[in-house]
Amino acid sequence: MKNNTGTSLSVWQPGVTMPTTQPLAAHVTTDVCVVGAGISGLTTAYLLTKAGCKVTVLEAKDICGGETSRTTAHLSWALDDRYSKLIQVHGKANALLAYQSHSDAIKQIEQIIKDEKIDCEFEWLPGYLFLGATDTENQLDEELEACRSLGITDVVKLKQCPLHSVSSGPCLEFPNQAQFHPTKYLEVIARYILEHGGEIYTHSHVKEFDTGVVHRAVTDAGFAVTANHLVVCTNTPVNDFVTMHTKQSPYRTYVVGLKVPKGSVPTALYWDDSDPYHYVRLAKIAGDGNQDSEVLIVGGEDHKTGQSSTDENERCTCLEDWTRQKFPMVQERLFQWSGQVMEPIDYLGYIGRNPGDIKTVYIATGDSGHGMTHGTIAGILITDLILKKANPWENLYDPGRVTLSLDTAKEFLKENLNVAGQYFDWLKPGTSAKEEIAPGTGAVVQKGMSKVAVYCDPQGNKHECSAVCTHLGCMVDWNASENSWDCPCHGSRFDPFGKVVAGPATKDLEKL
Ligand code: FES
Repeated sequence: MKNNTGTSLSVWQPGVTMPTTQPLAAHVTTDVCVVGAGISGLTTAYLLTKAGCKVTVLEAKDICGGETSRTTAHLSWALDDRYSKLIQVHGKANALLAYQSHSDAIKQIEQIIKDEKIDCEFEWLPGYLFLGATDTENQLDEELEACRSLGITDVVKLKQCPLHSVSSGPCLEFPNQAQFHPTKYLEVIARYILEHGGEIYTHSHVKEFDTGVVHRAVTDAGFAVTANHLVVCTNTPVNDFVTMHTKQSPYRTYVVGLKVPKGSVPTALYWDDSDPYHYVRLAKIAGDGNQDSEVLIVGGEDHKTGQSSTDENERCTCLEDWTRQKFPMVQERLFQWSGQVMEPIDYLGYIGRNPGDIKTVYIATGDSGHGMTHGTIAGILITDLILKKANPWENLYDPGRVTLSLDTAKEFLKENLNVAGQYFDWLKPGTSAKEEIAPGTGAVVQKGMSKVAVYCDPQGNKHECSAVCTHLGCMVDWNASENSWDCPCHGSRFDPFGKVVAGPATKDLEKL
């Protein structure tokens, strides 16, 4: 399923009606301005509204129009960077805090669901970490040992995964994981904010931030929100030009949703430990007449944004092949979509005060594939910072932290050398202007000394913009599964006509 510009639709989009909102059409003064209406921004706005603050949310697209609707919504404290790695890099005390924060985030989501009586398919379930094609039993033993050393004693090793077709080898069982329907959950949260004095403005892209004694976020239309506190929850911070983008890297991840007979797969979360890894869950199928079936949602095939070595659509085919092998009961494919994950160099998210900025400017980024719990942690932590309440996770997630470890240094070098390497794209020849571009696709074309991003629409009309990313000048690449121009350096994304859809860039590709 795709929308009219060729962007894929996820399983969480059909059948959910977000509250009606309008673009910002006047200057507004508020206590807290939150930029981004995904799970981080809306949870922050909800908790602050409950605490009596006046909150204004600005969103460039629709409510949940960014990465929150493109998650698979695993609610898990079985962190996919693994506790063995976290202990090595951050020490035991911090690894334990990371566990507690994600575990508390799931409980916070459950509490909000109870408080607001939200019907969003929340359920507790176990998670199984099984051996992928390249995994060894040693990896499971190491992780089990790491959990035990932190006092997480309810993780157990099973001789075999409960679903034998998935793995004939051993697995780890993690109790007390959960899943839910993220957009049904956030629809109610958005309504709560609006009904309790908060404001949400959609299609209000912020092009400029001005921070000082008070902060101003100015939209494309020239209207400003002035606030005492500014919270930027835009997956990757669009108010930060360089610093944060050297500390994390953008990855695309792919998802397919395949129909299965109800009850044919035990309800659980499933993950392997391969690189790239696979992650699996079940969900209801929206609409009447689907009572006998469920959708098996399978993710994986990650690669660095803008750097896919194969056509992005083939990655979904690979995922489907893998799923049919592991889950032979699957039927037809119902969905395919992709999303963007920010991977921090030291494996923990960045939530808190924006480094080098005024103390009342906050960011939330670096979800590391745990966007739903991470976004909820952001809501709790940033609310506490604004309300001047002590929070045990403040230092752990401090965006300004420096983590001294060999692993972190290697990761920092690897990712930043990769970024530097992308500038060689300036020297590579683009597609020749004489080559045909198929309708509905795009290519970077060499025109004299310039590289041009040419999109050929389904009617055969060509649309041209500069292929130079407006963030820091890397060359964008065509993403065939989302019909977008993706930047391989820090993950900015633009629609086929060059309009910015994801930062850190805040400006459109230059029209030619
Ligand atoms: Fe940084 Fe494109 S996102 S140069």
